[in-house]
Amino acid sequence: MSRTIAIASGKGGVGKTTLTANVGIALAKSGFKVLLVDADIAMANLSLLLGMHSSPITLHDVLLGESNVEDAIYDGPGGVKFMPSGLSLESYRRVDSDRLQSVVKQVAGDYDFVLLDCPPGIERTVMASLAASDEALLITMPNPPSIADVLKTKLVAQRLGCNPIGVIINFSTGEKGEVKGEDIMKMLELPIYGVIPMDAEVRRSFMQENVQPLMLRKPDAPASVAMRKIAAKISGAKEAVIAKPARIGFLTRLKNIFKRGKK
Ligand SMILES: Nc1ncnc2c1ncn2[C@@H]1O[C@H](COP(=O)(O)OP(=O)(O)O)[C@@H](O)[C@H]1O
Ligand SMILES: [Mg+2]
Repeated sequence: MSRTIAIASGKGGVGKTTLTANVGIALAKSGFKVLLVDADIAMANLSLLLGMHSSPITLHDVLLGESNVEDAIYDGPGGVKFMPSGLSLESYRRVDSDRLQSVVKQVAGDYDFVLLDCPPGIERTVMASLAASDEALLITMPNPPSIADVLKTKLVAQRLGCNPIGVIINFSTGEKGEVKGEDIMKMLELPIYGVIPMDAEVRRSFMQENVQPLMLRKPDAPASVAMRKIAAKISGAKEAVIAKPARIGFLTRLKNIFKRGKK
C-alpha cells in the first residue's frame, strides 16, 4: 500500500529538506519505491540538495496544466525518484497549489512512499501539501518557539484530514536548557520518531564540488545514522545497510593522472 507523508514544520530552516532527501534515500536503500516531491514551490531547494541541476519539466509546469506529471519525475541519487519544483518566480506566481492533491494522487499508486518536502509556515502552499498527504511527520528544534509553531502545523494538518504520526527533533546538542524529548512528546501529544544531532557534516554536503546527500556521502555520520533509524521507524523494516563510498587511494589517483598525461 502506498503512503504519502508530508515532512512539515512550523519554522523554516529546521531540516525538512535535509530529512526528506536522506530519509527518502534510506527508504529506497531498504528496497522501497520512493518518490520525493519538492512541494516547497516558492523556495525550491530539494534539487540542490540532491545534486540535480537540470530538470526541464517541473511540478510548476504540471500545476499549471502545461505538462504531464510523469514527465516531471526524474531518477535521483540512491535509487529515489524525484519531482522538482521550478525556480522561476514568474511561474510560481501563476501556479495553482490547490491542484497538488490531484497531481500526487495520480502517481502515488506507483510508489511505496511519497515524501513531500513542505514549505514552512501555515500559508496556502503548506495547506495544499498537507491536504495532498495522508500522514505528516513534524520536525522541530528542541526550543519553545519551534515547538509552539509546529503545534500549529499539527492542528492545521488534522483539520485537513492529514494524520500527524510523530515528531522528529533536529539540531539536538544535549545542552542544558534544551527542551527534553519527553516534554516535547507531551506538549505535542505525538510519539518521537527520532532525534537528529547537530552534525557539521550535514552542511558540508553542500560544500563539495559534486553535491551528494549525506546518507550516501557519509553513511556513518551521526546525522545519517539517526535518519536511517527514522526511516526504519517509518517503514517498520530493518535499517538499510549503506556502504561508505570507496576512497580513491593515492596510487590510483597518481596512475589516473599518468594515464591522462599519455593521451
Ligand atoms: N542536524 C543538523 N546538523 C547541522 N546542520 C543541519 C542539520 N539539519 C539541517 N542542517 C542545516 O540547516 C540548514 C537548514 O536545513 P533545511 O533542511 O534546508 O531546512 P528546511 O527545509 O526546514 O528549511 C541547512 O543548511 C542544513 O544543511
Ligand atoms: Mg526546505
